[in-house]
Amino acid sequence: MAYVALYRRFRPKTFDEVVGQEHIVKTLKNQIENNRIGHAYLFSGGRGSGKTSTAKILARAVNCEHPINGEPCNECEMCKQALEGSLVDITEMDAASNNGVDNIRDIREEVEFIPTAAKYRVYIIDEVHMLSTGAFNALLKTLEEPPAHVIFILATTEPQKLPMTILSRCQRFDFKRLSIENIMKRLRVICDETNTKIQDGALRFIAVLADGAMRDAISILDRCIAEGEEEITEQRVRELVGIPEFEYLIQMADALISSSVDNVLEKAEKLIAEGKDLNVFLWELIKLMRDLLVLSTCKEIDVYQEEEKEKLKVLLQKTNKNRLIELIEGLSSLSNEIKWATEPDIILETGFIKLCTEVEKTFVSEQKMSTDLKSKVLTNLKENGKILLHTKLEETKIELGEEDGLVHIIFEKPVDSFVKMNLLKEESKLAIKEAVIRAVGKDVSVKFVNLKGKDE
Ligand SMILES: Nc1ncnc2c1ncn2[C@@H]1O[C@H](COP(=O)(O)OP(=O)(O)OP(=O)(O)O)[C@@H](O)[C@H]1O
Ligand SMILES: [Mg+2]
Ligand SMILES: [Zn+2]
Repeated sequence: MAYVALYRRFRPKTFDEVVGQEHIVKTLKNQIENNRIGHAYLFSGGRGSGKTSTAKILARAVNCEHPINGEPCNECEMCKQALEGSLVDITEMDAASNNGVDNIRDIREEVEFIPTAAKYRVYIIDEVHMLSTGAFNALLKTLEEPPAHVIFILATTEPQKLPMTILSRCQRFDFKRLSIENIMKRLRVICDETNTKIQDGALRFIAVLADGAMRDAISILDRCIAEGEEEITEQRVRELVGIPEFEYLIQMADALISSSVDNVLEKAEKLIAEGKDLNVFLWELIKLMRDLLVLSTCKEIDVYQEEEKEKLKVLLQKTNKNRLIELIEGLSSLSNEIKWATEPDIILETGFIKLCTEVEKTFVSEQKMSTDLKSKVLTNLKENGKILLHTKLEETKIELGEEDGLVHIIFEKPVDSFVKMNLLKEESKLAIKEAVIRAVGKDVSVKFVNLKGKDE
């Protein structure tokens, strides 16, 4: 028997088997039970989320001789022929390869005839956004006055590319990206039915990698199974999909953090040349940045080995929370863009360049802010007649601390004990605090530290 890809073998055959789209299947089942079937449906949503599968189920359900609670029975003559693909009254067309006006004209002529065997002629037009303008116009004519025995089901990942005139004539259903939990649930069913042993961690990891697309998840699982391993582990999945090495990731993170455009681009080129999966790479990079962020709040992370942790700590010294957050946000939106891009390489490189220049900008503005802050604080002190304090603070650096609401006054040189005594007096502290609060515009606490970050 020829090998059937796992995702085809496990294409849902009933509405109830479609995971994560409960809002849609409920409505469709209701319509079938109450015989209130529409003539034009639009199924939109991300890749591999169940659009084509649901369209096929709907096509059977409307023609089934004994539907059960709105579900096709999958056993009657109509269902059986439809499942084999031999029911002439159900036409599936891929608009990506049949996008011309002639293809639609053929349909227009055909719809005038009553169905050959079934109740309805059903046309499933996949990737409908690929139709040419002429084809859209021809389709529109049919949608304007559809014969009672005809149902159109249009499916697309890019509904925004459809003309309003088409959109307004369809009942629209938006398919959601699948949650990690829902993907795991379906993978579990498939593993059970194929007697596949897999660790929970591996299952979750596949679900995360699939990023909302069930087909991708099942395809990864398929590749793991083909390896014929005793039990599929997370490590095995990693190797299979080519998760980048820690060392490479840390170098890339370093280059981004130091906004070294040349370095970043050189590394990106290597990645592209090796044909690595850019999305997997970006996801791993985002995770690394996130871990850095967690480490910067002094929490421990167990997943790293000691020497890896050391390298992360070195990186941390070159950056701060704000910049990490900015990088994480930038990388996340980059990974979204890349998913739909026809030229992902170019988008990746452009995105990296942007990230480097943006990071530079905030760095500069942060520096600027700390000088602004110091001038402001000093002026406030002077205005209040605290000339002595003013002179003492002139030699310090005044910075917003990492935590919200904390201002650091940093002594860059050793402070002599007389000055220190003076500054640390309650009334001096209070005066400084007041000046800082006025400068920042909100309540903060003030901390005196030396260059090593130790309290003074
Ligand atoms: N919601 C779902 N529940 C269960 N399985 C699903 C679901 N969505 C997708 N699958 C699995 O993924 C495969 C592909 O799904 P389907 O063809 O319905 O996706 P699609 O939304 O039409 O994707 P595309 O936009 O890429 O055409 C199915 O054969 C099935 O194995
Ligand atoms: Mg499809
Ligand atoms: Zn049936």
